Amino acid sequence: MSFKKNNGQMELEETIRNPGYKDAVDGGSAADASSSGTGERRDATAVKLDAAADEYTQVKPYAGMPKEVLLLHSSRARYRVPREILFWLIVCCTLALVAVTITIIALSPPCLRWWHITPVYQVYPRSFKDSDGDGVGDLKGIKEKLDHFLDLNIKAVWISPFYRSPMKDFGYDVEDFRDVDPLFGNMQDFEELLVEMHNKGLKLIMDFIPNHTSDRHRWFNLSRTRDPQYKDYYVWTDCDPAFPKPNNWVSIFGNSSWTYDEVRGQCYLHQFLKEQPDLNLRNPDVVQEIIDLISFWLEKGVDGFRMDAVKHMLEAAHLRDEPQVDPDKPPELVTTEWDLYHDYTTSQVGLHDMLREFRAVMDDYSREPGRYRFMVTESYDYEEVDKTMMYYGTPLIKESDFPFNFYLLDLPQNTSGWWAKHLVDLWMSNMPSGKWPNWVVGNHDRPRIGSSAGRIYVRAINLMLLTLPGTPTTYYGEEIGMENINITQSQVQDPAGKYNVSLSRDPERSPMQWNSEKNAGFNTQTNNTWLPVHPSYETVNVEVQNKDEGSVLSQYRFLNGLRQSELPFLRGWFCYVLSDTNVFSYLRELDGHKEAYLMVINFGRGPSTTDLSAVKELPDELRVLMSTNTANNQKVFQKSRIQTEAGEGLVIRYSTYTRFHPNHPAQCYVSEKACYLETVGILYKC
Ligand code: GLC
Ligand code: MG
Repeated sequence: MSFKKNNGQMELEETIRNPGYKDAVDGGSAADASSSGTGERRDATAVKLDAAADEYTQVKPYAGMPKEVLLLHSSRARYRVPREILFWLIVCCTLALVAVTITIIALSPPCLRWWHITPVYQVYPRSFKDSDGDGVGDLKGIKEKLDHFLDLNIKAVWISPFYRSPMKDFGYDVEDFRDVDPLFGNMQDFEELLVEMHNKGLKLIMDFIPNHTSDRHRWFNLSRTRDPQYKDYYVWTDCDPAFPKPNNWVSIFGNSSWTYDEVRGQCYLHQFLKEQPDLNLRNPDVVQEIIDLISFWLEKGVDGFRMDAVKHMLEAAHLRDEPQVDPDKPPELVTTEWDLYHDYTTSQVGLHDMLREFRAVMDDYSREPGRYRFMVTESYDYEEVDKTMMYYGTPLIKESDFPFNFYLLDLPQNTSGWWAKHLVDLWMSNMPSGKWPNWVVGNHDRPRIGSSAGRIYVRAINLMLLTLPGTPTTYYGEEIGMENINITQSQVQDPAGKYNVSLSRDPERSPMQWNSEKNAGFNTQTNNTWLPVHPSYETVNVEVQNKDEGSVLSQYRFLNGLRQSELPFLRGWFCYVLSDTNVFSYLRELDGHKEAYLMVINFGRGPSTTDLSAVKELPDELRVLMSTNTANNQKVFQKSRIQTEAGEGLVIRYSTYTRFHPNHPAQCYVSEKACYLETVGILYKC
């Protein structure tokens, strides 16, 4: 049929070929008419259509049929029924899909973020790697050594301060928060380091110091000259220049926390060195400055902050004397942090609101997928553990992702099984439910655990760190078992040790031991390193230990791998099994997961035989997956006789579906309850 033909001729040809056509067309025109006509006419059309349908049942649909014919055919059962079935099938499938999606979302436990999974590794930049041979580590040096983290499967690196600083407190006295100190490099070096870290899948956590600046900071100079904008940026008060102690407050580094400033003719507060004046965070302008600085670094792309000395951020405005611990002590002998109850200089009301404000800024920068910005707070609250827990925030208001858990730093006080359990439990039993724990065994302020607890416990401590629930923190060198260096009074660098060498933090800040070459590979160009290299470096170093499967480093790597690949460690229950003078034993298990892990760690002074026959959930025979004493790998013990040497830690893997936690709920913790469906390999909320 050609379109050039006129309508009459078209109709004629069609009628000859298809006898049903004419009637259908007639019916069609009637139907058309009925759309503008009465109900009666519509009925008539329907009758006519039905008649046509009856009459032309043999006629097949054909290409180009007019809509009336199409309607005629499509209303027949053979077309209508499959169509309706298809329609309802689609509706049902869509609903089922929506229901399944909602169920999966509702049943899935929350995803773990990067800071849950990886340990946090602390780099003290002066001591990690010196690229330019001036004896002090730098940013380029860190960049050279990024593969060290990848080798260990560590994905988060916290770098202690590298801002421009007069280095009175080695970077914790900041002269310019927006600049890099030339000793460490420049802003371009920082940016290159960050790009390189991100390229390698590493996260960079900055140190941030909201409590104080250097006395060389521009704000302080403007404040002491009473610049109208800056005059209240610090905590100033009138005092007698001859006796500049407006009250009895003391600095963390000893003696009065007040210093008289000749320029301004007033005293200023410093909770640390006199070169570290405390900011007046009661002044909203100062808080805004801090927020701007946080934003400055978040804009650059850093992945989080370690917030320094947060409990000191606010002081009571009334400046009253703090109560003495020993009320009979003559006031002039009240000179140390331990002489006073810090009712007016720490943990003041308003502190948490401020941190939450900082957190909110970080949340604004956390919206892009995979760009979560992490916050950890530093606050030593000692026996007031509930004060530390406040930094977790509330279920509705977020604060830090976790406050540093410093309690394991006390392990050397009484290295034993029950003491280890006590310290672990201090955190676990006080942590708000659903929160994520973390563990610190060393940092730039505390003696290295290998020295304070003793060399024989180094491996066991790493084993515990990496098998407890939550995020481990590793201070540089702990992965190879570095120890303190000896420092004589004349070698002291740390201001905290200038008057009393025993308070110096230099021993734990010695250069990282990379290899057996000159200066342990910390640098090659110079004889001088800012602190001496530890004499053990020829055996205790990364290169040597990398080649030795039984080394502290290889064990660290193995345990960190296990921790990140085995669900019971990341998502499972943590249960105390036993603790005595020697042994601390606990297990990790996940509902529905056949494999569970039992740790038996001997923190005692001699060999020990542990009888776990009363623990009916454990199989009778236990095979050691890994021992810190490699000779005992794969050894099989009867559960009534598990033998360990002093300082030996065992990871025992066993298979069972009998879980320990339902029978011992008071001994067990889990941050976010989840179960495992082994057949399909998925986790679900339970
Ligand atoms: C933190 C740091 C410490 C520093 C102090 C003052 O405690 O860890 O090294 O001296 O703050 O900034
Ligand atoms: Mg303060």
